[in-house]
Amino acid sequence: MSETLALRARALSAARIGDLLVRDPGRAARLALQWGDWRIDFSKERIDAAALEALVAHAESVGVARWIEALFAGERVNLSEGRPALHTALRQQDDTPVRVGGEDVIPAVRDTQRRIRALAAALREGRRRGATGLPITDVVSIGIGGSDLGPRMVCDALAGTEAPPVRVSFVSNVDPEALARALAPLDPASTAFVVISKTFTTQETLANATAARQWLARSMPGAALGAHFVGVSANVAAAGAFGIEADDVLPMWDWVGGRYSLWSAVGLPIAIRCGPDAFAALLAGAAAMDRHVRTAPLAQNAGVVLALVGWWNARWLGHAQRLVIPYSHALRELAAYLQQLVLESNGKTVGRDGAPLEAGSTPSLWGEPGTDAQHSFFQWLHQGTHPSPVEFVVPVRARHPIGDQERLLVANALAQAQALAAGRTPETVRRELAGSGLEGGSLDAAIAARVCPGNRPSTTILLPQVDPYHLGALIALYEHRTYVEGLLYGINSFDQWGVELGKTLAKPIARALIEGTALPDDADASTRALVAHAQALFAR
Ligand code: F6P
Repeated sequence: MSETLALRARALSAARIGDLLVRDPGRAARLALQWGDWRIDFSKERIDAAALEALVAHAESVGVARWIEALFAGERVNLSEGRPALHTALRQQDDTPVRVGGEDVIPAVRDTQRRIRALAAALREGRRRGATGLPITDVVSIGIGGSDLGPRMVCDALAGTEAPPVRVSFVSNVDPEALARALAPLDPASTAFVVISKTFTTQETLANATAARQWLARSMPGAALGAHFVGVSANVAAAGAFGIEADDVLPMWDWVGGRYSLWSAVGLPIAIRCGPDAFAALLAGAAAMDRHVRTAPLAQNAGVVLALVGWWNARWLGHAQRLVIPYSHALRELAAYLQQLVLESNGKTVGRDGAPLEAGSTPSLWGEPGTDAQHSFFQWLHQGTHPSPVEFVVPVRARHPIGDQERLLVANALAQAQALAAGRTPETVRRELAGSGLEGGSLDAAIAARVCPGNRPSTTILLPQVDPYHLGALIALYEHRTYVEGLLYGINSFDQWGVELGKTLAKPIARALIEGTALPDDADASTRALVAHAQALFAR
């Protein structure tokens, strides 16, 4: 299999994407997928039908279909932690039992969904009141990583233009500037906090939640502050110990990974900000994508094919980066969300069996929304010396159309994909400069500066619009794609041991900066000097 893939990669390395499109009029139809009214076009990738066939055969040989089924069935696909990863159960639309350790988890999921709905409704209808009897008008969500990025991105995507019944803001960073800015415009008497932490041990979240409680207590001394706090955690006891009333702690479970958890009570801010019906529609959209990924043959399976194309670009064509460019203001947080989803899942050096990965792991991922990105780093994409694959995510219809702007936006996305593939040849530029008065060396230099090499791969995902249903489907598509890419690399996509080291090392440094204690003997000279310098600055 690898031999065929290597051969195709060699052959295609010499091909020009623009020529492939011209020479084969059937290419655009063949190298595209239709899911409902979505179109996923990968005909501008450096790929052909033979390569795709070999990729699908590879997916078959590593058991992708079996692993997808294992995910849905609640098998322990998170091998290093011995757990299932059952984010799909959180959005399952019927009550078919899904068992973890023999116990059906669906009743607990439904019960939590009822509590999310009730809590969100009480807040939105002004029935949840603070310690002084005022209705809650503002909710601050405190969490970080998977306990922040999903709900933050979705709330922003669905925000719209109408004033919400309850305003929701997000604080994640331990930098006090984040909390200070969030609290500055708020009235403590009508503000509540949703503290989200799967472990309820995360330093940043606990520091912010503690500071939030002090802020409330300062303005309402002696008041019972219970009504101002809701917790979301798999560590219900720790949330209780923090002082959150048992009735106000919504559970999550160790069979859901943090970065896959927005479908659980971690999505409470979404239900509060956008309404419980929008949250339910988000889940329904994700469930529709789940059905597709679980049942579609590999070659027509959007999650699988996108994963194969991503793996092909990285593993076989050697691209070390990948960009996701949503042509959508509403999706401006998508890349930040995907950075955690993809890089925390698949940025590893060893495989599921603990052996070093033979051929690396996922490339880096970054992006910004178009059209802004066109006026920022697209120069690098078109003429830079590190050609990098791009995914254009293009919701076609705007929620608030103004004149022709929605069409203008889509036109720009399609033009950028076209430009990356086709480029601009010296002959074209020479024709354009005819009559400019330039000649000789000046003309040659002007031509060289304007030529775009083209031949740069991209995929375009056209979807109808950003609404709860389609957004749910889009996120689920990326989740599945991430999982399948992990399978292709041989990675367990559900652990994240790499982030632990920094957390451990921060503790003695924090003690040194807060209490003045000595650093451990094994602290390096650079860190010692930096700590000393920071201490001096704090002492000023
Ligand atoms: O930093 C890693 C991480 O464990 C993420 O995976 C997780 O989403 C985040 O921290 C927050 O963790 P918690 O929800 O336990 O506070």
